[in-house]
Amino acid sequence: MKLELDNVILRNFKVEDKDKIAEYANNKNICRNLRDRMPSPYTMEDAIEFIEHCKDQDPVYNFAIEYEGEYVGTISLERDEDVYRHTAEIGYWIGEPHWGKEIVTKAVTLITDYGFEQLKLARIHTGIFEYNVSSMRVLEKCGYRSEGIFEKNVYKDGAFYNEHRYSKINPA
Ligand SMILES: CC(C)(COP(=O)(O)OP(=O)(O)OC[C@H]1O[C@@H](n2cnc3c(N)ncnc32)[C@H](O)[C@@H]1OP(=O)(O)O)[C@@H](O)C(=O)NCCC(=O)NCCS
Repeated sequence: MKLELDNVILRNFKVEDKDKIAEYANNKNICRNLRDRMPSPYTMEDAIEFIEHCKDQDPVYNFAIEYEGEYVGTISLERDEDVYRHTAEIGYWIGEPHWGKEIVTKAVTLITDYGFEQLKLARIHTGIFEYNVSSMRVLEKCGYRSEGIFEKNVYKDGAFYNEHRYSKINPA
C-alpha cells in the first residue's frame, strides 16, 4: 500500500524503520503531545514491537511517513467500535528535525482521503491537548473543523489540560 503527495509518501512499515523510529520517538517534545500508551523513554524494543503490530494489516491502519525517500514519522487511523464503527481517530507524529516542512499536512490529507474513499469512514476525529497549536493548525489546513473544547479532559505529566476536539466528515 502506497499513498503519495509531492515529496511525501505513506507506506507500510519495514523492519529497517526501527532505527529511525527509536531515534525520533525517544523525545519528550513528541511524547508530551501523545497518550501515555506511547512509551517514554522509547526503546528499540518498543520500535520492533510496533513494527510487528503493523505488519500484515489488511486494511492498513498504520502508515510510515516517508519524506524524500527517508522514514520520518508515523500516521494512523484507529477505527472506533460498536455504533461508532464508521468513525476513526487520527494520530500522527514526526521526528523533530522534520517539523515545519508541511510534511504532516500532506500526510493528513493523504490518510483522510484514504479513510473516506477506501475505508468508507463517515467521520475522522481526534483530540488535541490545549498547548499543541501546530497540530490544530495542521488539521485546520486539511479541512478539519473545531467541534469544541472538553475542559480538563486530559491528565498528562501531572497536570490537567483542556482537549480541543476536531473532526472532518466524509462528504460522500
Ligand atoms: C504537530 C506536528 C505533527 C506538526 O507537523 P509538521 O509537519 O511540523 O506540520 P506542518 O509543517 O505541516 O504545519 C505546521 C503548522 O503549524 C504552524 N505552527 C507551528 N508552530 C506554531 C505555533 N507555536 N503557533 C501557531 N502555529 C504554529 C506552522 O506555521 C504551520 O502552519 P502554516 O503552514 O500555516 O504556517 C509535529 O510538530 C509533531 O510531530 N509534533 C509532536 C507530536 C504531535 O504533536 N502529534 C499530534 C498529536 S495531536
